[in-house]
Amino acid sequence: MFLGGAALENTMSVTRLRASAASTPPHRVTSGALLQKKLARQPITALTAYDYPTARLVDQAGIDMVLVGDSLGMVVLGYENTLPVTLDEMLHHTRAVARALLHAFLVADMPYGSYHASQREAVCNGLRFIKEAGAQAIKIEGGSSRAKLVQRLTDAEVPVVAHIGLTPQSMHSMGGYRVQGTSPEAMDRLLADARALEEAGAIAIVLEGIPRELAASITSHSGIPTIGIGAGPDCDGQILVFHDLFNLTFSPPAKFTRQYADGAAFFASALNQYRDDVATHRFPNDAESYHLSRGVMAEIEAATPRARNA
Ligand code: KIV
Repeated sequence: MFLGGAALENTMSVTRLRASAASTPPHRVTSGALLQKKLARQPITALTAYDYPTARLVDQAGIDMVLVGDSLGMVVLGYENTLPVTLDEMLHHTRAVARALLHAFLVADMPYGSYHASQREAVCNGLRFIKEAGAQAIKIEGGSSRAKLVQRLTDAEVPVVAHIGLTPQSMHSMGGYRVQGTSPEAMDRLLADARALEEAGAIAIVLEGIPRELAASITSHSGIPTIGIGAGPDCDGQILVFHDLFNLTFSPPAKFTRQYADGAAFFASALNQYRDDVATHRFPNDAESYHLSRGVMAEIEAATPRARNA
């Protein structure tokens, strides 16, 4: 008798959410709820996630908003910057994150090139994030020049989170990753950008890499929530990249990040133990092995007497 292919465990590796839990989310955060938090001056918590297990942990921690950022390209896919990330890669990871969330508001980044060629193409691509991937909103980078597109997307029922300041998809035109809005003229431009994007229908706006004073001013003039990253504590909410929180970027932390745990050291220690256990025959042990039943053992022994005596 051969047991190959039989299901040996009820749970193997990551356990999926129960269908009943997934279909009746208790309190799914909405864009209205994010606005209520701004109005009540309660900080909005946001974090990136790119896969099912980490998104599930972020969701269970009660984070309000999860962004499948195109930082995916750097922290998960190993690209040098965010520019090579494709629409298919973003959709793939957004689907995985969507399967994990019961609570958080899910935003997906539209990658470089997916909204730049034409408004029509941008709307078609934006719709895919909502329809196929389960996002509740998409995020696009850029200021006043994106206002018309924000309006088109909003008209097409694709809620938009805007993103101004240091916009990594513009790294070549910005001459690298530099703090933005540091001169009076640049401050005025960013204030005008925020106003134009809000008027166009954006539901929230990410402020990245700008002086605290400017972020505070945009936040106080804005009727939609501002979510800061490297923009100081006066924004309506804060977002960080998951891998920065856990020292999983293999690079020195930027000034605006805070490391809450050393994931690299944690994983390295476990990996070294696993390698040593396998190399020294300590893994797996007998308790970690499956066994034939006594009946089957007896059957095999009775059927192969010569092998036993050999
Ligand atoms: O891609 C990303 O992770 C982002 C955040 C930094 C806001 O855009």
